[in-house]
Amino acid sequence: MADISELAVDLIAADSVVGLGTGRAATAFIHALGARVRAGLPVRGIPTSDASAALAAQLGIPLVTFDDVDAIDVCVDGADEVDPAGDLIKGYGGALLREKIVAAFSRKLVILVGSEKLVPALGARGILPVEVVPFAITPARRQIAALGFDPVQRAKDGKPYLTDNGNFILDCKTGPLKDAAATDRALHAVPGVAGTGLFIRRAHTVMVQDGANAEVRRGSAA
Ligand code: A5P
Repeated sequence: MADISELAVDLIAADSVVGLGTGRAATAFIHALGARVRAGLPVRGIPTSDASAALAAQLGIPLVTFDDVDAIDVCVDGADEVDPAGDLIKGYGGALLREKIVAAFSRKLVILVGSEKLVPALGARGILPVEVVPFAITPARRQIAALGFDPVQRAKDGKPYLTDNGNFILDCKTGPLKDAAATDRALHAVPGVAGTGLFIRRAHTVMVQDGANAEVRRGSAA
């Protein structure tokens, strides 16, 4: 069986700085990378969440910060939606902002998804996560509602969900987007929005697992 986490780990050269994504697909990749590290592959990782940092440390992957390196060679992460052009929605797992920062400073972004994540248009699965600083949550929610996106504040255990950055998330019901880049610009223009789950022209490679088969596609940044 072709496994996309193994295909992705085959791309990692010795001495690489590797962005470590968040979520189930990224977790499988971090485990595969940990096995290579234990077999002697020298790499350093930059995690996109506290959870991925803890997992990498547990597996013996050396971690660094932006202060320690000039660039990230490759970031490997999951996604919640992938459209035919290779643009993405991310953030169902709440790590969207650090994921976007690490992706932006990576020479390459490799995305690992199951075929159920492929959509005809971004927004088709129903949710676009938007990270908002707590001070701005009420006016930001009003302004995003006025844009027609029906924002619902994410909750966990009956309390507002907090990201690793101490921010809130508004899950926006956009429906299929006609112009995802314009939506991203409109949301970023709302004061207090720290980041959106739209990853436009970010992914270089998209690896799709469909049962026992793996397909490697070009992303929209390739
Ligand atoms: C985390 O915030 C997300 O962007 C994840 O990368 C994304 O939700 C994919 O996660 P799974 O691989 O768990 O589906």
